[in-house]
Amino acid sequence: MTSLSRRSGIPSFLAMDIAREAGARQAAGDSIVRLDVGQPTFGAPQAAIDAAARAMRAETLGYTDALGAAPLRRAIAAWYGRSHGVEVAPERIIITVGASGAFQLAFLALFDPGDRVALVSPGYPPYRHILTALGVEPALVAARIEDGLQMRASHLAEAERGGPIAGALIASPGNPTGSMIPDAALLEIAAACRARDIPLISDEIYHGLTYEAPARSLVDQGAIVISSFSKYWAMTGWRIGWIVAPEPLVKPIERLAQNLFIAAPAVAQTAALGALLADEECEARRAVYAESRAVLMRELPGLGLPLVAPPDGGFYAFVDIGARGDDSLAFCRRALAEAGVAMSPGVDFCDARGGRWVRIAYPQRADVVIEGLERLRRWLG
Ligand SMILES: Cc1ncc(COP(=O)(O)O)c(C=O)c1O
Repeated sequence: MTSLSRRSGIPSFLAMDIAREAGARQAAGDSIVRLDVGQPTFGAPQAAIDAAARAMRAETLGYTDALGAAPLRRAIAAWYGRSHGVEVAPERIIITVGASGAFQLAFLALFDPGDRVALVSPGYPPYRHILTALGVEPALVAARIEDGLQMRASHLAEAERGGPIAGALIASPGNPTGSMIPDAALLEIAAACRARDIPLISDEIYHGLTYEAPARSLVDQGAIVISSFSKYWAMTGWRIGWIVAPEPLVKPIERLAQNLFIAAPAVAQTAALGALLADEECEARRAVYAESRAVLMRELPGLGLPLVAPPDGGFYAFVDIGARGDDSLAFCRRALAEAGVAMSPGVDFCDARGGRWVRIAYPQRADVVIEGLERLRRWLG
């Protein structure tokens, strides 16, 4: 038996395990309502597909620069001007293999083995799993219900009780909750990181998908911003994300990118460039998600599945199954097998309290969500 590294012993991303199970049942002919995976059911915007098709016919599509194709870097910089009113130099933008690739590059560039990085629980599982695989300790602090299960500046001091921290990571809107950190609290967190002279990583992948107020970017606050074409532009499978890095970090990340990935896929970068022209199509999709969200907000309390955090953005509703026990994994497995509804267990996102919580993903049409809720209503009795 080959001996494995300790770092490879990270846990599975359970949501993906449930997704596989749900997919296998669908392939076997079962009717399953998919409220599990956090990916839009619509494909890439038409402008992205057209751009990719043109590039496949007309270009050689070799490696791009390790930092990404210059036109895409310029177009993302322009997008910050358009959507956030902030000027960002294209030289600070680094194109990556999804936000997932961006985390790896940013964590490698910023942290050494043994460092501790503050983040809250519940949170997106790969944050802590990637950190752990790199020998970096996730300094997890329990987010409070009254803060929408999101970070506040005071959590940094809490994380420091276990030793100094080398950085902090936030996401607003977040996954699994969809909740947002209010602007004032975001600025406080950024200021608290600056005061400690530690990097703040801001995962802004759900920007654009907000329903009450727009999300504030920390791109002008010295943060290392990570984002992606996976959510607002519905391009999960194309695997294109980006980092907006402070200037001194660009060269180190470039060296890592050259050696680890060479470059993100050229055809997908061209598609992403096309996607930036698809505002109208993306906004129409957001209106669809808004309708699904309204259905959930209306119906969930009556099902005995109350929200545990405000679903401000993204496409998630995070609910309490408290009345139905405290084993969210068993609850989700049974819901899949007995009701034909796939959802994600809260234990994926929070070891300590996730047994009471389940994530419902709604990046799809309201009639699908209505059908899922109807099945749950019959099943829950
Ligand atoms: C909060 C958050 N960050 C990052 C990612 C990964 O995104 P990508 O597809 O760009 O790698 C996800 C995917 O679900 C996510 O929810």
